[in-house]
Amino acid sequence: MDDIAPAPATLATRYAAIRAHTEALVAALSPEDQCVQSMPDASPAKWHRAHITWFFEQFLLTQHVPRYQVFDPAFVYLFNSYYEAVGARHPRPMRGLLTRPTAEQISAYRAHVDQAMQTWLHILPPDLVELGLQHEQQHQELLLTDILHAFAQNPLAPAAEPLWREPPAVAGPTKFRHYPRAVVRIGHAGQGFAFDNELPRHEVLLADYAIADRLVRNRDWQDFIADRGYATASLWMSDGWATVQTNGWQAPLHWGEDGTQMGLGGRTPIEPDAPVRHISWYEADAFARWAGARLPTEGEWEAAAADLHEATTHVWQWTDSAYRPYPGFKAPGGAVGEYNGKFMVNQMVLRGGSMATPPGHARATYRNFFHPDKRWQFTGLRLARDL
Ligand SMILES: [Fe+2]
Repeated sequence: MDDIAPAPATLATRYAAIRAHTEALVAALSPEDQCVQSMPDASPAKWHRAHITWFFEQFLLTQHVPRYQVFDPAFVYLFNSYYEAVGARHPRPMRGLLTRPTAEQISAYRAHVDQAMQTWLHILPPDLVELGLQHEQQHQELLLTDILHAFAQNPLAPAAEPLWREPPAVAGPTKFRHYPRAVVRIGHAGQGFAFDNELPRHEVLLADYAIADRLVRNRDWQDFIADRGYATASLWMSDGWATVQTNGWQAPLHWGEDGTQMGLGGRTPIEPDAPVRHISWYEADAFARWAGARLPTEGEWEAAAADLHEATTHVWQWTDSAYRPYPGFKAPGGAVGEYNGKFMVNQMVLRGGSMATPPGHARATYRNFFHPDKRWQFTGLRLARDL
């Protein structure tokens, strides 16, 4: 891949910009904010800042720079996320107990690694540097959704991003775009970065289908609630119905009983015309059934992507596709082979991108994935239909 990677000067600039973007995202967070972990799925902002730095230290500097001095040997254990090849790690649900190292020490860690990366960038494998940057961008979104989950449970409803502006929705009614039966090719092609899970490009057969040109709105979701959607078992998958009962779900996550919704800018009234967000796959699937429709498959989504409104601007869109390897998929060798491949079971694919996705990170072939009961990400849906 070296022949298609950015030139070193470009990569250095890109490295600096992406690393700086992470720090800009946490500018309004205090050291106390940065330590909180609101649930096992979420990680403290401080942990994210350290872990994405650890990725560069562990997979680039330690491997490729002779006599590189790690910042602190204890960090291999503290900030390894899930790489079995690297060894044991601090338990994920206990990341919020790491009051030490301090946020200030993590800033020093970042500076140490940044200086080494910029010094040695010319000898580092550009494709692996790019993976580290794309990894950091993924964590930028997770950092925001994780702190939002914590702040949503704080009666003060703090703004994680005080200057946050909600993206405007596309005006007008939803239209369904029709596509005839076809064999289409999906997956990454050509130049530029893609994660391994977007490969290989391959053919899929699509029957006649229609897909909504925009996302399901809050007002639609309010109709679903008013029609007792959360109380109608026949709309739900069995696992979904059990999840609704266990958790007492009656509305999307971050909706208040006072008609407000928590967002990155704080708590504001629910905007009826804004795309609904913070719903699980179970809810998206039940809503689609209630609406006399279904979720699109990821092949349908990708084949129509160029014609869709709000494809990457508001919420990731749940699809009807299970997260499984594409035909012929091979995970890369070594520890980074654990990046995506070992998660390809029991999760559902989301397509698009969200208001929390960093600029330039999303693309039409991108496969995001979460378990069907998860809803703390910026997740929503668009409908599809058989013809
Ligand atoms: Fe990670």
